[in-house]
Amino acid sequence: KPKIAVFASGNGSNFQAIADAIQEGRLNAEIALVVTDKPEAFVVERARRLGIKSFSFIPAQYDSKQLYEEMLKEKLVEHKVEWLILAGFMRLIGPVLLEAFENRIINIHPSVLPAFPGKDAIGQTLASGAERAGVTVHYVDAGMDTGSIISQQSFPVAGRGREAVEEEIHKLEHELYPATLQKLFHQPVKTKDLYDSMQG
Ligand code: GAR
Repeated sequence: KPKIAVFASGNGSNFQAIADAIQEGRLNAEIALVVTDKPEAFVVERARRLGIKSFSFIPAQYDSKQLYEEMLKEKLVEHKVEWLILAGFMRLIGPVLLEAFENRIINIHPSVLPAFPGKDAIGQTLASGAERAGVTVHYVDAGMDTGSIISQQSFPVAGRGREAVEEEIHKLEHELYPATLQKLFHQPVKTKDLYDSMQG
């Protein structure tokens, strides 16, 4: 069963959805560690309630991203983590972790990428007058929400306000993220993909 670390900076409702899916047998994985850059974030309390280990760090206490990522890498290796699952982690991942977990870092983003990357994607969607809002699960690369898309779902905004759209986004996220991870971890690799990857 794949060992994952969930990275979060805030409420942690997506972490909760992943933990619930594991408990209910919809996702075959083990959360080895929750990692946060915000020690006061509610995700820490959620992890405590579930009896899942969490690790908090304060980026400003390190001289560089490289240094805190080297520290994180050590922690992750110590806990035998295989996948990094970003769930509202509001920081770009740097070269140290990208290399250590190549093709094993996943993110969820509250827009239909490539539209509206970056901060406040829901606000950006509404301000643009887009007809549809949605969510994307994607691989993480060095860019801001630019990695290859794994799954996506959308729905019509239909004149609804921020609160209603946000609620629907979160509902979608909580279903799509665990379901996508289950497929990603357990679907047999297609021969063609394997061949392509062997060609480098
Ligand atoms: C989620 O909506 C997630 O898609 C978003 O932050 C929220 C975290 O909620 N992530 C981003 O905007 C990343 N650019 P949560 O803490 O309740 O899971």
